[in-house]
This record gives sequence, C-alpha cells and structure tokens, in this order.
Amino acid sequence: MILAAQISDTHFDEAPRNLERAERAMTYLASLRRKPDVILVTGDITDSGKPAQYAQAAATLRGVGDIPVYFLPGNHDDRAAFRTALLDETPSTDPINGAYRVGPLTVLMLDSSVPGESSGRLADDTLDWLREALAETLDGPILLALHHPPKLLHSPIIDVIGLAEPETLADIIAADDRIVGTLTGHAHSAAASTFGGKPLITCPSTASVLGGVWEVEPPTKVMDYAPDPMVALHVIDETNSLTTHFRSVPIGGWLATPLA
Ligand SMILES: [Fe+2]
Repeated sequence: MILAAQISDTHFDEAPRNLERAERAMTYLASLRRKPDVILVTGDITDSGKPAQYAQAAATLRGVGDIPVYFLPGNHDDRAAFRTALLDETPSTDPINGAYRVGPLTVLMLDSSVPGESSGRLADDTLDWLREALAETLDGPILLALHHPPKLLHSPIIDVIGLAEPETLADIIAADDRIVGTLTGHAHSAAASTFGGKPLITCPSTASVLGGVWEVEPPTKVMDYAPDPMVALHVIDETNSLTTHFRSVPIGGWLATPLA
C-alpha cells in the first residue's frame, strides 16, 4: 500500500501561530510508526506570497527526514517566490504543475491558481500538460491534486471562489480508469464528495476552519481559529482504491510531541 499524507493551507504569515501549527502537523507525520511515502502540500502555503513567509515554509515543511514533500500553489501564493523558495527554480509566473512517482503511484499536481485572483482555473496549457502526463504514465494508479475544489462544497465563502470551468477536468477523470481520486485544499474543511465519478477529498487547513452554510454568519462568524490543525492520510491499496483518514493534532496529543 501507499500512504500519502496531505497538509494544506498552512498560511505561513511570519507570525508564530501558523508556524507552530504546521510544525505540529509535520511532527505528527514524522512520528508515525509507518512513515508516509509522500507528503503533499496543496496550496495557500503562505498567507501573502512574501519571501520571508516562504522561508518559514521551506524550513518547516522540508524537515521530515527522507519523506519526499511536493508542493502546489494556492490563491494566496506567488508563483515566482514559490519557485525560488520551494523548488529551487528560476522565478517565473508560469503554472507550477508536477508529476511525481511514489512507488507504483503517480501523483499529478495541477496549478489551479490564477495570479491576482482568489478563484481558480486550469489554464489550457495545464490541461494539455495533464493529458500528456496521463499518456506518459505507463502503469499504476494515478492521484490528482489541485488547490481549488472543482465543485460546490456548500461553503459560502469558498463556493464563489472555486474552480471555474471544471467540466474538462471532470471529463478527463471520468475517461481514465487509472485515476483513483482528486485531492484539493482551499476550503479549510475536511470534506468528501465525488467528481468525474471518483472520490473528491478536500484536506482541512492546519491554520483554521471555514464554516459551511450551516455555520457561517458574515461578517463576524466566518472562520474558526479554535480547532486543532488537521491532516489527511490517504491509502491507495492493491485494489487501486482510495481510502482517507483525517487526524487533528492537539498539543500534547498522542504523537504531537517533538521528536527527541
Ligand atoms: Fe487557504
């Protein structure tokens, strides 16, 4: 089996709160008896795309031994600063798409961010990149990840800044039996649905929870900062099915104490 951990929406902002919460989540993952095979970080890594925020992110999210960590940008990120800090690449504003092999699993990470906008869209170049990556994947299950959920989650804050024009992605997913599911962030809520006939899993944020329509009461009740940071643990087993567990990581919790 492959164990793919996911954390999202860390919102590093140079202040200690979000840093400590992301550290706590990473300590939990690094402390697991069965280490994750990969850690996927699905966007809004920083709060406003500043180099100092990426420095916090790089120092925190890379420090997990030899577990590979792969990153996606969200609407709060800056592609050029992201590339410099997290990918050691020359800065550019081109979409940041990535194909990664994790044992038999292929992970395709799609940049759904649109510079300067809160809502998302997959550029034509990114959809072409996805088609090529699928054609080049010769075997094994495939997991997709992008920041913006491609369908309504009944989240009043997020539904108006979700993924525009999701139909092409839905068609690609529905047509490829190897795709086991799609992972997103953005919603700051642990949510499960379907998209393109496959599981759609939204990883909660380590920083905060955004309410659903049953909770939100703008302008005062929108975001809840009290819940502990959460992570998602995705299992892809020999039957090529996707099973997800969510964990909150309280201070002093089972595996949340710093490593010796
Ligand atoms: Fe976010």
